[in-house]
Amino acid sequence: MNKKKLFIETYGCQMNFSDSEIVASVLAKDYDMTDQLILADLILINTCSIREHAEERVFKRLAELNSLKKKNKSLQIGLIGCMAERWKEKLFEKTKVDLIVGPDAYRDLPSILKKENTTNINILLSEIETYDDITPVRYDSNGISAFVSIMRGCNNYCSYCVVPYTRGRERSRNLQTIVDEVHQLFNHGYKEVTLLGQNVNSYSFENVNFANLMKSVAETNPSLRVRFATSHPKDLSDELVAVMASYPNICKSIHLPAQSGNDEVLKRMNRKYTRQGYLDRIACIRKFMPECSISTDLIAGFCGETEAEHQDTLSLMQEVGFDYAYMFKYSAREGTAAHTKMQDTVPEDIKSKRLEEIIALQQKLSHKSNKNDIGKTVEVLVEGTSKRSENHLFGRTSQNKVVIFPKIGHVKGEYVNVKIVSCTSATLFGE
Ligand code: SAH
Ligand code: SF4
Ligand code: F3S
Repeated sequence: MNKKKLFIETYGCQMNFSDSEIVASVLAKDYDMTDQLILADLILINTCSIREHAEERVFKRLAELNSLKKKNKSLQIGLIGCMAERWKEKLFEKTKVDLIVGPDAYRDLPSILKKENTTNINILLSEIETYDDITPVRYDSNGISAFVSIMRGCNNYCSYCVVPYTRGRERSRNLQTIVDEVHQLFNHGYKEVTLLGQNVNSYSFENVNFANLMKSVAETNPSLRVRFATSHPKDLSDELVAVMASYPNICKSIHLPAQSGNDEVLKRMNRKYTRQGYLDRIACIRKFMPECSISTDLIAGFCGETEAEHQDTLSLMQEVGFDYAYMFKYSAREGTAAHTKMQDTVPEDIKSKRLEEIIALQQKLSHKSNKNDIGKTVEVLVEGTSKRSENHLFGRTSQNKVVIFPKIGHVKGEYVNVKIVSCTSATLFGE
């Protein structure tokens, strides 16, 4: 029998992209993946709730996709992921989706689709689900680099953040299943894995902590690169830094979201570290791995943020000299502590102005960081042909910087030593 066709569109964080591969696997018995909307019997939108804008995009997209139902009467459209969890049944009123399934209920998708259930919604959160026995279908992969999720949920309750509500309680995946999945990937030609969790440093499974897990994964093979995301500054341990420093195949790159450079703001955000605490972590990283790149997330215009507090974020950026940053305007999310107990006081135009200042400064810092690499020879793992030129390849350095260089005989999946000759704030060019 011919299988039906499934199209998945994913929004949000890497975790969501990883989940979409799990969903593809859960449905593999009845559905093959397609990358063409018009061929789909089922469209699943894997959604994100982190900021209002992320949700607005999905509502617009759903309105567009609905028109496909005119041509294909049996087409089903499902909404999965974090918005399913946040909006619940209300999504049936607000949109025309056929099913709603939350991040911990993907195993229920086949029976919901076969209408074996009494309802077409499952948004139960679980304290144990890690999908540890499911081999993801890497339908959109470059065959070189893969995500491996190692934990789910978050217990940190940063006051602005929906994740603890949309993803539920923190739980770690069985160590052996992680190691097995990584071995399998390597045997299939993958050269890089990124271990994923909202807060990987609190990984804990039967006395194995994150540093131990990193060791086990790094020992798969010296030619397998290992990355991870994301680290919470409050529990980035010295032990982890030491492990990173001692394995050449653990990439020298840490994403360490600071959010703000001001102690009062950090307290209101419930981040559980101070500016000095953050700087101490940076000092530890620099001491053991001077070559390590450091990237961050920053929020502009959080509840009650004064101009002076905003200036502290700019000065933290200067002081650390981040290599890269993701920068956002604060977006109030219903149900979070910041929404219930604080006031979203910073006017929209001031938020925008502060964000622009943060972006402008980061552009300078990124450019400076890239200029520093000119003249160096770096090891690049080739991911594919450059989008702009057939004759060029692109790949990443251990520091997670994108490098473009002439193809001449090299292929995807190869490690190539490239001499950096020029740069922009976003890209290195080499030969
Ligand atoms: N678990 C990760 C972050 C997940 S969300 C961590 O703690 O580092 C990714 C980023 O989105 C956050 O680091 C934060 O900078 C931003 N973010 C989260 N909630 C937000 C909100 N309500 N408004 C604006 N930015 C937000
Ligand atoms: Fe959200 Fe904080 Fe958890 Fe990150 S650590 S997911 S910002 S609550
Ligand atoms: Fe978004 Fe959910 Fe990830 S809210 S950032 S998709 S955990």
